[in-house]
Amino acid sequence: MTLTEAQQTLRDTLRRPLRDLRISVIDKCNFRCPYCMPEERYHANYQFLRNGELLTFEEIGRLARIFAALGARKLRITGGEPLLRRGLPDLVRDLAAIGEVDDLALTTNGVYLGGCAHALREAGLSRLTVSLDSVDDGLFRRMNGNKRGIAPVLEGVAAARTAGFQEIKFNCVVQRGVNCHALLELVEHFRWTGHILRFIEYMDVGTCNDWRRDHVVPSREVLGRIHARYPVTPLEENYHGEVAARYAFDDGAGEIGFISSVTAPFCGACTRARLGADGVLYTCLFAARGTDLRTPLRQGASDADIAGVIAAVWENRGDRYSELRARRPAEPAARRRIEMYQIGG
Ligand code: GTP
Ligand code: 5AD
Ligand code: SF4
Ligand code: SF4
Repeated sequence: MTLTEAQQTLRDTLRRPLRDLRISVIDKCNFRCPYCMPEERYHANYQFLRNGELLTFEEIGRLARIFAALGARKLRITGGEPLLRRGLPDLVRDLAAIGEVDDLALTTNGVYLGGCAHALREAGLSRLTVSLDSVDDGLFRRMNGNKRGIAPVLEGVAAARTAGFQEIKFNCVVQRGVNCHALLELVEHFRWTGHILRFIEYMDVGTCNDWRRDHVVPSREVLGRIHARYPVTPLEENYHGEVAARYAFDDGAGEIGFISSVTAPFCGACTRARLGADGVLYTCLFAARGTDLRTPLRQGASDADIAGVIAAVWENRGDRYSELRARRPAEPAARRRIEMYQIGG
């Protein structure tokens, strides 16, 4: 595909390039975390995307190549729960073969890792992130809508290690009054393992979670509590625009991170595009609407046509929701918004 000069140096209205593509491969999940997919709304009869509505692996691969030509270097596979998508290693193999891509990661809740970690590694997956809000079995169950205990996740992680995944990242969303009293236990679980635990400030994503500012535990508070028990020192960014602020334990036990999108937004360096499982392109986690790429794809558009659509969307992008929220004194007004499980964070 030949790109125009403008497409080769694509920038949005805030001069941010397109570097990352997060690809949701399914909207279903085996968990019902109350802050993401509350059971009352996502019940047994809820109509998720039908098979024909999901992008095929071939379509995802084709779009990923077009995004790579436009500048994407980092791909992350997400869901819902991506391991529910049948044959996922086939997609991983295809994405891993894209020349321009230098990082291919996947975010999962870990329950099904035991059965597929090896195949994912063989297929060329470079990195794994596991969402894990607590290692306390009872609390973990409550936080996933009573679907599973912690055991299958820890077994899955062990299988992933055996398969060769090192430095697995664990994402813990911290909610005041829910899991904020149980964070040291998590820290202790992952110290000395070589894995990286990251604490995420609870965000007002989607329309399900009835978010309030006082539900958020600022990272500096969590950091203070950890530091008082296990002193840490800040580390340099791994790369410009890294979402997590990193710290090393002074005793050599490893690294932890903080993702502070509420108290320290990072929109200025946000180079992320998100592709829904139905082929809709979003330019922000808080987007109200996106751009349908599946229709042109299925109507026979050429790669250059689709690159043109993506480039036009990116050139018009001015999203900086978290920065604007930080300046707004009042609570956000309810409005239409994409749900977290539709774009995988
Ligand atoms: P690394 O490549 O491992 O550094 O990954 P990452 O930190 O970019 O990705 P990960 O998917 O692990 O992101 C962790 C969490 O941070 C997400 O699940 C979101 O909750 C949050 N996050 C990631 N990107 C954004 C973003 O663009 N905006 C906001 N507001 N939050 C984000
Ligand atoms: N705030 C912060 N993180 C969230 N996640 C889901 N909902 C929220 C929220 N409201 C996290 C999940 C997972 C990732 C995809 O996003 O726990 O780690
Ligand atoms: Fe929980 Fe992630 Fe599933 Fe949402 S997509 S219900 S956060 S495991
Ligand atoms: Fe990027 Fe939107 Fe998150 Fe800001 S709020 S970092 S623009 S995804």
